[in-house]
Amino acid sequence: MRVAMIGTGYVGLVSGACFADFGHVVTCVDKDAGKIDRLNRGEIPIFEPGLDALVAQNVEAGRLAFTTEAKDAIAEADAVFIAVGTPSRRGDGHADLSYVYAAAKEIAELMDGFTVVVTKSTVPVGTGDEVEAIIRETNPDADFAVVSNPEFLREGAAIKDFKIPDRVVVGTDSERAREVMRELYRPLFLNETPILFTSRRTSELIKYAANAFLAVKITFINEMADLCEAVGANVQEVSRGIGLDGRIGRKFLNAGPGYGGSCFPKDTLALTKTANDAGCPVRIVDTVVEVNAARKRAMADKVIKAMGGDVNGKTIGVLGLAFKPNTDDMRDAPSLDIIPALTEAGAKVIAYDPESMHEAEKLLSGLDYAESAYEAIDGADAMVIITEWDQFRALDLDRVKTSLKSDIVVDLRNIYSPEDMAKRGFTYISVGRP
Ligand code: UDX
Repeated sequence: MRVAMIGTGYVGLVSGACFADFGHVVTCVDKDAGKIDRLNRGEIPIFEPGLDALVAQNVEAGRLAFTTEAKDAIAEADAVFIAVGTPSRRGDGHADLSYVYAAAKEIAELMDGFTVVVTKSTVPVGTGDEVEAIIRETNPDADFAVVSNPEFLREGAAIKDFKIPDRVVVGTDSERAREVMRELYRPLFLNETPILFTSRRTSELIKYAANAFLAVKITFINEMADLCEAVGANVQEVSRGIGLDGRIGRKFLNAGPGYGGSCFPKDTLALTKTANDAGCPVRIVDTVVEVNAARKRAMADKVIKAMGGDVNGKTIGVLGLAFKPNTDDMRDAPSLDIIPALTEAGAKVIAYDPESMHEAEKLLSGLDYAESAYEAIDGADAMVIITEWDQFRALDLDRVKTSLKSDIVVDLRNIYSPEDMAKRGFTYISVGRP
């Protein structure tokens, strides 16, 4: 199959490289000439484990190319994927669909022969109808079908999630389009991956419902963690105790500083907007959005309390800035709420993150950056873990003890054992554990 991928952001790049690796011929198109130049030089603009090698192999094999010229890519394609950004619109929180609609118009002008137009970007229910109307209006003779095919890729594990997914969801009423989609995902059928064919609107909603449900799960366990702290219980054991019930499931029950990232905050908010507009509010998701935002802010107070209620003039070594490990993504990261609150309270913050400091520098000011975890905490009054990178789990805790001026460790990701930390003489504060 020939595939055109419009947008070389996170989703477009990973999906394009993986489809090429499935044996299809993929052209990734982006208007950003600088980005395309870099990709053509073999530079990958995001940090995603394994992506650089996957791109290089498939470029080398002649199955993957990058261009700013949409014309041939779209004309030759059996399937054109729209994988452009859908950021939250400033002011009202609705998804901004202007990039999706611009892509639809361009595709309409350039398509040739039967073409399946696939929305990969996360788009509100009904967007496929709008894309179809735009194409029809721009090119009344076009032979096409619009399909919703949401992605469920986790940053840091995106290639695995693409190649060994729990399921593939395809929303369309067109049998011809279904055939093309089956062919595109054919290698997955060897692993017996379920492919779920639904209507387009249902498929669009599945994506939001999945992300909102996961956000509910995380927020639920975060509130249980607070309750554990209040009543002297252990949230990790609560997670295990409830998660072993197959109806609940063990995943996504790690308490922490609140969810962040490019999807959950944006998608939960967009879902509440869609639901309100439809006159059918999803109050549980409204509450989750509110509780999660408040939690991120509350984490700074937790640190201040752990340091005796006053951080003015004190130094805090912060480990981890990205919204989660194995990514350099800082979007809606808890660190963006926690660090400004600490510096406003008069603390001097020295931060270290293995991958995201270049991103953090654009978003955070009033702090210093260190070259390593040990440098960040050297002489500090407290060490605060915000992101659970493996290298922080593996720190030499004896060295940490001698590096810190005090013995305070605030661990917002529960990466150390409270018993072990107590034995080593730390004043150790984690999330939802005695
Ligand atoms: C998410 C979804 O998992 C993916 O399917 C979707 O399509 C895109 O959004 P991603 O944002 O990359 O992926 O990260 P994910 O691993 O889901 O984590 C999201 C946030 O939740 C992170 O801030 C993470 O730290 C937090 N989280 C996750 C928890 O606090 N506890 C958990 O148990 C799991």
